[in-house]
Amino acid sequence: MPMSWEMLYAERAHTMKNSEIREFFQLTEQPDVISFAGGFPSPDCFPREFIAEALQKLVLEEGAAALQYGPTEGNWELRRYLAEKMSLEGASCSPENILITNGSQQGLDLIGKVLLNPGDRVIVEEPGYVGGLGAFNNYQAAILPVAVDGKGLCTDLLEKELHSLRNQGKSVKLAYTVPNFQNPTGVTLSLERRRHLLELAGKYNFSIAEDNPYGELCFEGGQLPSLKTLDTEGRVIYLGSFSKTFIPGIRVGWIGAERCLVEKIAAAKQATDLCSNTLGQHLVEHFTRRQSINRHTRRLSTYYRGKRDLMISRMKEHFPAGVNWTVPRGGFFIWVTFPAHINSRDLLLKALEKKRVAYVDGGGFFVNGSGKNTARFSYSEASEEEIREGIARLGELFAEEFGGTPTKGKDRVAAEGR
Ligand SMILES: Cc1ncc(COP(=O)(O)O)c(C=O)c1O
Repeated sequence: MPMSWEMLYAERAHTMKNSEIREFFQLTEQPDVISFAGGFPSPDCFPREFIAEALQKLVLEEGAAALQYGPTEGNWELRRYLAEKMSLEGASCSPENILITNGSQQGLDLIGKVLLNPGDRVIVEEPGYVGGLGAFNNYQAAILPVAVDGKGLCTDLLEKELHSLRNQGKSVKLAYTVPNFQNPTGVTLSLERRRHLLELAGKYNFSIAEDNPYGELCFEGGQLPSLKTLDTEGRVIYLGSFSKTFIPGIRVGWIGAERCLVEKIAAAKQATDLCSNTLGQHLVEHFTRRQSINRHTRRLSTYYRGKRDLMISRMKEHFPAGVNWTVPRGGFFIWVTFPAHINSRDLLLKALEKKRVAYVDGGGFFVNGSGKNTARFSYSEASEEEIREGIARLGELFAEEFGGTPTKGKDRVAAEGR
């Protein structure tokens, strides 16, 4: 008789599910489709020659260390570099505060593993990063969404929620935020709200996971201080990543946190994978040692800014009145809002069928089934030609579907603060 695995699943496994958005990628990532769906970095930005040369050197000259198991907390030199980098940014940090992870996604999972009991309340942004929602959901957290507007997480709404929970004798354990050029909306948490969030964390005694994979891809206006640098109480767990500023294939990210938490996370990580990708860590460390990384990041910002500008100017030219969007100051994403009666999943299916163009419909970024008229557009991976052609084709479809003429040249910025 075939084994019935369903019966054997742990209770928490029943709440685990594949991201609907990732499953949909099978449709959106076909060869003849122009896709603005995936949030991947552009392969044009991978420093291939540097990597080929560095790998040869690492394997032939430093092979033993680069190919061997490493410490669970990560390569000491890389931890030292990251501690210096974070200290330079204003977050007093030593290598003991840093733990290298297999991408920041693993960091999110490890935070869930160490901090969350079933039913613990976690505040998330809505719309928010699906990988964060998934990680905390897998540990059976009670997910509490709080709205995002043009200035990021609405901390006034959060305050109301916290106050109401306290009146019911309930508390929150963790708040999760992507403060810079958020996935999926592209918006940035204002300085005022950063301060307010930290104030609330102190008052209501919760921790904050600050996930910052896009912060360095800043196009204009300068970077705001991280929550970690503003934190005077050791409440913030910072998550960094080399996936967008170097390459994602090596899976190198890091956690910056209080030493006691780093030790606990290291204990959890030991049982997960013993250590992060050693060769990848050496490669990153080599890149930082050559001091090429800052120059490289500046080049990437210029490159992605060009793509953002192109996508925005094509939207202005081709999208009919009634369609609005955010203008991100960095990162990979533009958030599009259609007229309220439009279902962006149905529209996406038509876009695929009639125009062979894809984006991600926004519903999956919401916890409670709202956001049906929203969508995420990524300009990071598509070529300039694809952006020109793809947005024009979508403009035709939108005009066919809900009428209106393009309001040429006019900015239609959605959700610029309430
Ligand atoms: C907000 C956010 N956090 C984390 C990740 C995961 O990144 P990594 O490749 O470092 O695991 C992503 C990837 O797209 C992301 O957008």
